[in-house]
Amino acid sequence: MIDIHCHILPGLDDGPETLGEAMEMCRRAAADGVRTIVATPHFKPGTYEYAGADILAAAAALGEAIEKEGLDVRIIPGAEIAVSPEMKDYVKRGGCLTLNRSRYFLAEFHPLSVPSRWDAFLESFLDAGLRPIIAHPERNYWFIKHREALSAAVQRGIMVQITAMSITGGFGPETRDFSAYLLKNNLVHAIGSDGHSADLRPPMLSAAAAIAANLIGAERAAALTTTIPQSIIEDRPLPDWEPEIDFDPMEYKERNWFRRLIRSI
Ligand SMILES: [Fe+2]
Repeated sequence: MIDIHCHILPGLDDGPETLGEAMEMCRRAAADGVRTIVATPHFKPGTYEYAGADILAAAAALGEAIEKEGLDVRIIPGAEIAVSPEMKDYVKRGGCLTLNRSRYFLAEFHPLSVPSRWDAFLESFLDAGLRPIIAHPERNYWFIKHREALSAAVQRGIMVQITAMSITGGFGPETRDFSAYLLKNNLVHAIGSDGHSADLRPPMLSAAAAIAANLIGAERAAALTTTIPQSIIEDRPLPDWEPEIDFDPMEYKERNWFRRLIRSI
């Protein structure tokens, strides 16, 4: 399996603090069947800020320790970029903040809300040849309440990564149920661990992949941790994506009409 979202580089964000802790995470991932980990430290102006070279250096140092120990797992560079007006500059900075320097990058929203016109903003990256992947929308309160807006964005080319612990119920029933909804409606492109530590938020995928297989079938579930992430890290286009939506478009239209009415009063 390939994990496209993991905070495994020591000292860059709220992931492991030491190389020893990072190595413990690598051992757990390897034992779980993960063979490639994209290291995706938070990149958030004013909170977690570093140069692309810092990611490459930290990934190389961890790679050396892995090789020394003989673990069957590799680390490649990436980041999880907080959505902000300056995001366009950051995404291209040093070419190191996208996933393995590909066209794909992880975009993280605030857990409670999204900025207005968030969808048009993300879609503007598509015009520039880049593909945003929304990191764990199932953990965002606004997306839970506006699932039709997320569906519409996916239909226009925005991608979605959901988190293994959301599927297994570690973030509560509402997040678990929304994860199942997204999986069943073909609105998920990848399952990532969003690992932060060896124990509390471990870098593991297999338990979530097994639940996903029950929900959507073994082949489709396997693609979310293998072939689609492989295309992402090799910077290849994805197969055509056809979301199947079970919300009622008329209901959505009416709700929008109601919103416009409220705004006009
Ligand atoms: Fe994350």
